[in-house]
Amino acid sequence: MQTNAPISAPGDNGRLTGLVYTRDETLAQDIKRAVQPICRIKAVSASVQEVLQSIEQYDAGICFVHIRNDQVEDGMALVGQLRRVHPGLGVFIVADRKDPDLILQGLRLGVLDVIIPTANGKDCFLPALQHALGRKATEGRNGFVYALFSLKGGQGVTTLSVNLADQIQLLTGGRVLLLDLNLYLGDVGAVANISPDFTPFDLIRDLARMDENLLISSLYRHARGFYILPSPAVISDAERIHRDQISAMIKLLKRHFTHIVIDLPHDFSERTLAAAEASDRLMVLVEPDLVSVKSAQQVLNFFQELNYGDDRLAFLLNRLTKSSVLQPEDVEMVLKQPLLATVANDWTALSRSVRKGEPLGVAHGRRRITRNLHELAARIMGMTPTARRRGWLGRFN
Ligand SMILES: Nc1ncnc2c1ncn2[C@@H]1O[C@H](COP(=O)(O)OP(=O)(O)O)[C@@H](O)[C@H]1O
Ligand SMILES: [Mg+2]
Repeated sequence: MQTNAPISAPGDNGRLTGLVYTRDETLAQDIKRAVQPICRIKAVSASVQEVLQSIEQYDAGICFVHIRNDQVEDGMALVGQLRRVHPGLGVFIVADRKDPDLILQGLRLGVLDVIIPTANGKDCFLPALQHALGRKATEGRNGFVYALFSLKGGQGVTTLSVNLADQIQLLTGGRVLLLDLNLYLGDVGAVANISPDFTPFDLIRDLARMDENLLISSLYRHARGFYILPSPAVISDAERIHRDQISAMIKLLKRHFTHIVIDLPHDFSERTLAAAEASDRLMVLVEPDLVSVKSAQQVLNFFQELNYGDDRLAFLLNRLTKSSVLQPEDVEMVLKQPLLATVANDWTALSRSVRKGEPLGVAHGRRRITRNLHELAARIMGMTPTARRRGWLGRFN
């Protein structure tokens, strides 16, 4: 029996990790290459025992089980075992041929998909994985809303919003929207290199007659796949928009998008609070210096007084360097809150990507800053096991 030594992947702890059960080397390589943008295959093995051990060892989130024509029973036994023992693990069956019985059995066992590469070619693995990640949210038509905030401007809210939307799109293949609520003057348009022609003002004006087709055709779609609703690039009268209109707009958008990332303005206006209220997660940005941490602490106090649940509030430490005066543990100590993620300081990669109107993932995928953002996206969707070792589908199950 031939097995591969586990492949170690230092430094990319944010990426979804997977395993392949097969004795077919070529197939294993095809899967590994295809899913590489969002999932690192850590081990390939034809031994059931090794697969089971590797799940623990690598905190694997998914497993591709190759079921050969002549070994359907053995393969199904493994799938059954995986589904029982590791209910949080996402299992894909890779079958040699289209067999309705096998597909039915697999679906009954709760696998995410049955992939038949001979019918669909090598390109089928990544779409199958993305589809599985985005499916539940799409079905529900009740998208997740993640809002980014800092009281002080210039801390990276726009930068991280754009790149988080991009990473969520990459991870889920879902229908992702980046919403700029800086209604006085937005700069998502500038960062994404587009001129805002359909803005929240237009959407709110036409809210009542907005159906799916009209909405989707009015929005700008970035080449990377996510949609953008940018605010005007000229100073506008934000005051004429009321809190209820913001709530109604987000409610409508949730019906049409799987994930919405909001670039919030740096204020405590009724509009901002309405958007925060509508969010599943409110992420407060903080930089590794005392002034910024103190400001974040004020924000924390403010939201706590409003009884905004601690489970929805999270902190992101942006622009971290080795020589930062405050390191993550210091920030956590002052805030008395754990950080959801840290994001490295990388002026070079950011200035290049902004000049081209591209998210970091296009040309700077290997930089630490991009890996940090990928990890953040995976984490807020419950794909990286938390301290409680919740499976990556924990949020959806
Ligand atoms: N992690 C980072 N590393 C380096 N520069 C950053 C980082 N995050 C943001 N910046 C830079 O900081 C400036 C302000 O960021 P921006 O996203 O516009 O902040 P905000 O929207 O909070 O006002 C921009 O020039 C941006 O490129
Ligand atoms: Mg901004």
